[in-house]
Parts: sequence; structure tokens; C-alpha cells
Amino acid sequence: MSARLDLRLPEVVELATLNTAELDPLFQEEIQVWEKRFDWDFRPSADLLRRFVQLHSLSGYALVSGQSVAGYTYFVTEGRKGLIGDFFLRSEYATSSNEMSLLGATVQGLMLVSGIRRIETQLMTIRMPLTQPLPFSQYASRYDRLFMEVDRGTIARLAPATVGHAVKFHAWAERFNEEIAHLVAAAYRGHIDSEINDQYRTIPGARHFLGNIIRYPGCGTFSAEGSVVAIDSKSGRVCGAALASTVSPTSGHITQLCILPAIRGARLGYELLRQALVRLSSLGCGTVSLTVTASNAGAIRLYESVGFRSVSTFPALVWEGF
Ligand SMILES: CC(C)(COP(=O)(O)OP(=O)(O)OC[C@H]1O[C@@H](n2cnc3c(N)ncnc32)[C@H](O)[C@@H]1OP(=O)(O)O)[C@@H](O)C(=O)NCCC(=O)NCCS
Repeated sequence: MSARLDLRLPEVVELATLNTAELDPLFQEEIQVWEKRFDWDFRPSADLLRRFVQLHSLSGYALVSGQSVAGYTYFVTEGRKGLIGDFFLRSEYATSSNEMSLLGATVQGLMLVSGIRRIETQLMTIRMPLTQPLPFSQYASRYDRLFMEVDRGTIARLAPATVGHAVKFHAWAERFNEEIAHLVAAAYRGHIDSEINDQYRTIPGARHFLGNIIRYPGCGTFSAEGSVVAIDSKSGRVCGAALASTVSPTSGHITQLCILPAIRGARLGYELLRQALVRLSSLGCGTVSLTVTASNAGAIRLYESVGFRSVSTFPALVWEGF
């Protein structure tokens, strides 16, 4: 007798209706994917998500097929913005139509939350090329981003640069944070990345962004020892910063690199990046990664000149005007 075909389509359900045991096989697979594709230990993020799932307080949706959880996504809301924090489908269910049905339900769910006027996400683990129109495409903008990586051997060969502007370098310390927030807002004024992440547009937004990367595991564990700031010798103010995290015991990540517009082109970006890479390397990182918007040609040129190579491309998406 032939096995009975299961002809039911996967169904979208609210995440709050599921428990950790139901989600665990999916988290296990997601941990492996992050490890394999990005040298990234996703376990701290999965542990945090499990705690919220246990309390039934994680907002989001799951795609359920029979007894299996095929995929999930969660979101947080901050004022008028909804942020889709993660989006993952198990490989056996990763079809374009499943991905779009989960994404569509999530975007629709967020659009219906009172006061939400903007939705942002960066889909690092989306499996299918985004060839289909996006859900609610009339409100959507898409920006391709690159995930780049460099290895320890290449870092060891980087020569220090003579910076054409008088600065002093310091390891990151909490007391620099307020000035770094001012730096971020100035560095990204009119920049493509502030279309993708609206926190870059204002000083309070930049403060919030820094608070998140320092406190939460989304971009890895913040590494104070791996992060460097440049202080302008004349003004005594922070004029550049390279912030770093560790994403596994043997891999690091550059979470931020920016220089004040007035002093660009003086090799400060190179030197800050080099110093952060050397610090991460001495902390045990065999590889260091970063993400960059594909149209940010100047930054990509800098990263390639340092030895970073593109490993994958993923979309950043924004919905606005609904
Ligand atoms: C990207 C950024 C950090 C570079 O800092 P910088 O101090 O101007 O860079 P450097 O002077 O060290 O330049 C190093 C190399 O990168 C390349 N480069 C940097 N910016 C460039 C630009 N805008 N256009 C073309 N090439 C550029 C050059 O090849 C340069 O090499 P060279 O000195 O031999 O000519 C700076 O432009 C910045 O803060 N930009 C806004 C924020 C940003 O985009 N951050 C990266 C996000 S992923």
C-alpha cells in the first residue's frame, strides 16, 4: 500500500501558540546554518529566544506543516517602527512560496499594529533568491547587502598606516558612547545605510543603536577589548570608531566603522579597522566578518583592500508609507 500523501499546505500560526519543544528542532537547524555559513554561534540568540517563547511573550509567526515547525519569524516594535528580528525556514520547507507566505503574514501583522509606520528587516538566512515580488511591494524598498570575511593570516600582514590627521587611538570605553552616538549620526547623514536603519538618522536613534549592540546578542557579544576609537588631537572629541563583537569563540565581527565626513580619505578608516582586526585576532579570532551595503562602493573598496572577501549577499527590506 502506498503512503498517504499529506496535501495540506503549511499554515501560518502565531508564535505565542507554540512551545520550546516544538521550536527546538528548528533552532537546532538554525544554529548549524549560522555556524556553516557565517562562522557564527547562534546559541546565545537561540537561548534568549527560548526564554521568551517559554513565557509566550515573543511576537511573531511560525509556519507549521503537520506536526513540524517549518519556519518562524519574530518581531519587536520600537515606537513607530516594527523590526523583524529573525526569519528562518528549515531547508526541507525552504521554497519561495513558503518564505513569501511567512514574510507576508509577518509584514501584514505588523502593519496592523496600531502606530506602526515603518518596518525594517535584514534577512541573512533567507534561502531562496528574492525573485518574486515582495509582499506589499508598493510600500517596499530592497537593498542588497554583502556578508564579508577576512582571515587571521591576512590580518597579520596588514601594515600600519600613517594617518593624515592628528588623532590618538584609545580602546573603547563606556565614557566615549555619547560622542560615538554623535559621530554615528553625523557619519550617516544622507547615507544609504540610514535608509535601511533609521536609527542612524538622529542622535537619540544612534544612542539606541549603540545600546542594542552593547547589551544584546543580535550582532554578537560586544567586545570592548576589540573596539577602538580615534580622538581628534585638536578638539579632544571622538572623530572615528571601529566597534567589534565576538560571534563565536573563534570569530569576530565589525559592528560599526565610521569616520567624521570632514576627515575622510586620511587613512583613518583603514587604521581603525586594522587595529580592531588585530585586537580581535589577538583575542583568538581566526576569522572576522562584517556586513556592508552593496552600493557603498567606498567602504567595499576599503574592505577589499584590507583582504575582506564577499561570502554571501542578502536583502535588507523596508516597508513605509502604508
Ligand atoms: C567608509 C569609511 C569608514 C572610510 O573611512 P576613510 O577614513 O575615509 O577611509 P581611508 O582614508 O582609510 O580609505 C582607505 C581606502 O578605502 C578606499 N575608500 C574609502 N572611502 C572611499 C570612498 N568614499 N570612495 C572611494 N574609495 C574609498 C580608498 O581605496 C582608500 O584607499 P587609499 O587611501 O589608498 O586611496 C568612511 O568613508 C565612512 O565613515 N563612511 C560612512 C560610514 C560608512 O559607510 N561606514 C561603513 C559601513 S559598512
